[in-house]
Amino acid sequence: MSKTLIPKILKAVFPVGGMGTRFLPATKAIPKEMLPVVDKPLIQYAVEEAYEAGIRQMIFVTGRHKRAIEDHFDAAYELEAELEAANKMALLDVVRSIKPDDMDCIFVRQPRALGLGHAVLCAENLVGNEPFAVLLADDLMVGEPPVLKQMIQSFATAPGTVLAVQDVPREHTRRYGIVSVQGQRAYSPVDAIVEKPAPDVAPSTLGVAGRYILSPGIFQSIRAQPRGVGGEIQLTDGIAGLIGHEPVYSLRYTGTRYDCGSKEGFLQATIDLALANPELADSVREHMRAALKE
Ligand code: UTP
Repeated sequence: MSKTLIPKILKAVFPVGGMGTRFLPATKAIPKEMLPVVDKPLIQYAVEEAYEAGIRQMIFVTGRHKRAIEDHFDAAYELEAELEAANKMALLDVVRSIKPDDMDCIFVRQPRALGLGHAVLCAENLVGNEPFAVLLADDLMVGEPPVLKQMIQSFATAPGTVLAVQDVPREHTRRYGIVSVQGQRAYSPVDAIVEKPAPDVAPSTLGVAGRYILSPGIFQSIRAQPRGVGGEIQLTDGIAGLIGHEPVYSLRYTGTRYDCGSKEGFLQATIDLALANPELADSVREHMRAALKE
């Protein structure tokens, strides 16, 4: 009996063309994806997650003021030469491991920040006719296995578009794309998706986090949608257009999402990752105890 061939997810798209207004003034000249949590910029966490999920082709959809991201994933000859001359080999490894030799980085410009759906469309020619991952670096995901890997494992059991979802407080539905699903299983078909609904009309409390596996049908679907909430070309509307025509699943992932596009989430990530870091944990804990006593 012949088994249907499940396509491999070979490419990841990182939309990094947003304005980052919630983090002004920090993001006036620096992309928000370069803000560090402990010692690594947000974009590096996302790229590492994709790499750990087996992906080697990283496609960045960038905007103006995003040069620092290209530089971060480029070689830094002067810095590397200086570290080598000073025999700082551990640091040299840290710098070189940002872009492993078997990883390709490709950059494409989103000329105007017209929304996440528009950013995904900008990657169409580079993605081609195959399913691909999308990672929003401002959602820092901590999971074991990494959340994108969990999604790829589910995709391998039943391929389609896959949305990472988590339960969110009902009063927060306005912050998320909200899905309704068939059944109670962790990996379930999606019936409907609505962008940022008010709590009283939200179809559920399952909120979409910034990790997607998208079928190439998404490009046509995004193009077919009218402008969505806020005049933007919304990815959520493109996904809604797939439902009923192609399989769309949601996966309740295991792990923690930090919304690092918000100050609150960014601080929570910083505290948790510092406490998880053996070099920092004791002093951070001590400092927090003292600060809370004051
Ligand atoms: P956000 O909704 O967080 O928007 O985008 P933003 O502009 O980055 O930040 P704020 O709200 O002004 O503070 C979610 C993701 O989509 C990307 C962003 O870079 C972010 O990863 N995005 C958004 C684009 O790449 N292009 C866009 O036109 C809009």
